[in-house]
Amino acid sequence: MKKISGNPYLKVDKKKIFVDFVDLDKLLNLYPTPFMIFIENRIRDNIRTFNRVFNDIFENFEGYYSIKANFLPSICNIIQEEKVGAEIISLPELELCLTMGFKPNQIIIGGPYLPNNLIKTSIHNSLKEIIVYDLKDIERIDLIAKDFDIIQNICLRINSNKYDSKLGIEITYESANHLKKILEKCQNVRISTILSHYGSQMNNINQYLFNLKIILKSLNILKENGINIKNINLGGGFPEATVMPEHQLKLIARELKKEIDINQLEYEKIIFEPGRYFVGDAGVFIAEIIKTTEKRWIFLNLGNHICPKFARCSLRFYNISQIDSPHKYKTSIAGIIPSEQDVLAKGYFLTEKIKEGNHILINNVGAYCLTFSSRFPYLLPHILLVKNDEFEEIFNPKENRDFSLN
Ligand SMILES: Cc1ncc(COP(=O)(O)O)c(C=O)c1O
Repeated sequence: MKKISGNPYLKVDKKKIFVDFVDLDKLLNLYPTPFMIFIENRIRDNIRTFNRVFNDIFENFEGYYSIKANFLPSICNIIQEEKVGAEIISLPELELCLTMGFKPNQIIIGGPYLPNNLIKTSIHNSLKEIIVYDLKDIERIDLIAKDFDIIQNICLRINSNKYDSKLGIEITYESANHLKKILEKCQNVRISTILSHYGSQMNNINQYLFNLKIILKSLNILKENGINIKNINLGGGFPEATVMPEHQLKLIARELKKEIDINQLEYEKIIFEPGRYFVGDAGVFIAEIIKTTEKRWIFLNLGNHICPKFARCSLRFYNISQIDSPHKYKTSIAGIIPSEQDVLAKGYFLTEKIKEGNHILINNVGAYCLTFSSRFPYLLPHILLVKNDEFEEIFNPKENRDFSLN
C-alpha cells in the first residue's frame, strides 16, 4: 500500500484510504467535516523511536513530553502509558497530569509565570523540579520551600541567545555572581538542572549544536562562580517524525554526544522535552472544499481558527477524493474565517480538478493546533482516536463543548 506523506499509518489501497486499519470512508459517513483524527500507534512509535535513539547514544537520557503541544486527556494518557515524563507550565496541566497517572517525580513544572499558588502546589506534590526563567523567582521558591521544610530542586532556564530572545536568564559573570549571592542566602533551593530550548521545527543540526554551546558556555561561567549543575536539559524543537526520520534524529544525537565528549562535559542526566515530535504527525484533519475560484483558490470548511499558522505545523494537503490523480497543479488554499488573512497555503500542489465537495486531508496537525486554536464562533470539530482497526470519538463539540483546561 502507498503511504501518504511518508506516514506508515496513512495508506492508500486501490483508491481507498486507511488511517491505521480504519477505512476513512467509514468515518466520512459517520462524522461531518471538518473532523480530526489522532493515530494512537503513531504516537507510541514516535515515542519509542525517540527513546531508542537517545538511549542508544546517551547513558543517562530522560524524556519529558511538553504537554502544551497537545493536552487532550486521551493523548496524554497514551504518553503516560509509554512511561514518558511531563514538562508543564501551569496548574491546570498539573491537575491533568496527576489525574492521568503521571508520577510527581516524572513531572517538571515552570515557565515565565510562577504564581505563588503554583509554587506551593508543586512543592506540596513533590514534583521533580521547578523551572525558573527569572532569578527573582528563586527567592520566592526558597521562602515557600522553607515553610514546607524541604530543599527544592530548581532548573535554570537560560536564554538561548537566539536573535533577540527574551526568554530565560542570560548567564554572564555578573548574573552568575548575583545567582551565587542568592544561593548563599537561599538554603532551601538547589540548582539541579540547566535548560536551554532553542526553538521550534529545528531541521538543521547546527541549531542543536548552538543550543548545546550556550549551555556549555553558561556552565563554565557558573562553575567559575562556584555553582555546579549536574543535569543538562536541551529542551524540544524537533520537527514532526515524518519530517525528521530516525537516521536524522540519530545524527543529531551523535553530533551532540561528540560535542559533549570533546568538551569533556560531565553530567548526571541529559534531558529532552519533545512535544511536536511525539504527536505532530499523529494528527490529521479531514476537511471539505466549499468553494473554488478561477484563479485556483480553494476554500476549505476549516481555517486558521483551528489550524493556526502560529502552530507552525508542516502542513501537507491531499485531495483524497482524487487520491490517484497527480498532485502537481499549483493551488492556493484559504479557510473560512471572513478575513483575507485566513490563508492555509499558497501555491500548493494539488490535483488538476478541484471540485466543491472534494475531501482534503491535512497532515501533521497533531501538535499545537488545538493549543493555539481560537474561540472563533464556528463549531469545533469532532475528534477521533484510531487504533488498529478501531476508533473512538474523544471529543464531541456538542457534548464536550470545549477542550480547554480550566
Ligand atoms: C522549554 C520548552 N521545552 C519544550 C518545548 C517543546 O517544543 P517542541 O514541541 O517544538 O518539541 C517548548 C516549546 O515551546 C519549550 O518552550
